[in-house]
Amino acid sequence: MAAAGLLRCLDAPARIGPGEDLRGTLVLLHAFPLNAHMWEPQLAIADRGWRVIAPHLRGFDGGGFRTPPSSMDDYADDVIELLDALHVTQAVVGGLSMGGYLAFALWRLAPRLFRGLILADTRPQSDTPQIRQQREGLLARVQDEGAAGVADEMVPHLLGDRTRRERPDIVQRVRSLILASSPAAIAAAIRVLMTRDDSTALLASITVPTLVLVGSDDAITPPSVGQAMRDAVPGAEFVMIPGAGHLSNIEQPQRFNDALARFLAHRI
Ligand code: MLT
Repeated sequence: MAAAGLLRCLDAPARIGPGEDLRGTLVLLHAFPLNAHMWEPQLAIADRGWRVIAPHLRGFDGGGFRTPPSSMDDYADDVIELLDALHVTQAVVGGLSMGGYLAFALWRLAPRLFRGLILADTRPQSDTPQIRQQREGLLARVQDEGAAGVADEMVPHLLGDRTRRERPDIVQRVRSLILASSPAAIAAAIRVLMTRDDSTALLASITVPTLVLVGSDDAITPPSVGQAMRDAVPGAEFVMIPGAGHLSNIEQPQRFNDALARFLAHRI
């Protein structure tokens, strides 16, 4: 592992009323090329007795990094180190898109950490040659045009049609989350994405309660991909989020949180 130093994170303490118990810890892993602030709508889960921790992956905290990650396992080692430092021994781990790829790496490296798993708008497969070629193009673009070029290219794919038409505030929010990412962090993440392992065979080994969430209009990881994951993970549940594209937690936060809260209340 190439050392990163401890990750910075959002850390919302559980809000517990008199006579109520701490329900546990929820760890949320962000998408590419955003940062932990994408999870702000989900910090409300703290009202239901859950501590919510959302790390900025290496380089995505706006401060740059000493050592770029060389693989998804480097991101996973950073998260393990953070949870150990926070004395979190078990958590429900959720990841959206790249965060889901990272959750697979965490499961491979440290299944002891998991009480449950949330896979949102993600896929187990590694990149096809065609996607790798597109990533080469994005790599060139981030080098030439910085984060703004990446935002121009990605925002139309990240958000559903309806969100782009009707919610300029969300379009702006996602754009500003991308612009907060340094070109170096984005470039390093592209290389990690291109070389990540295929996790398809791992799905059958997942033994914790699992929720698969997908935006109905997700063009990057469509509902059929989520349904196939549900079929492959023993006992998994599938929930489609109407009116959302790939960034379902930002596009439909209430529906996303309702599905999350139901899962946490009944399956964990
Ligand atoms: C993400 O949202 O994390 C990315 O779309 C993932 C990817 O490009 O594979």
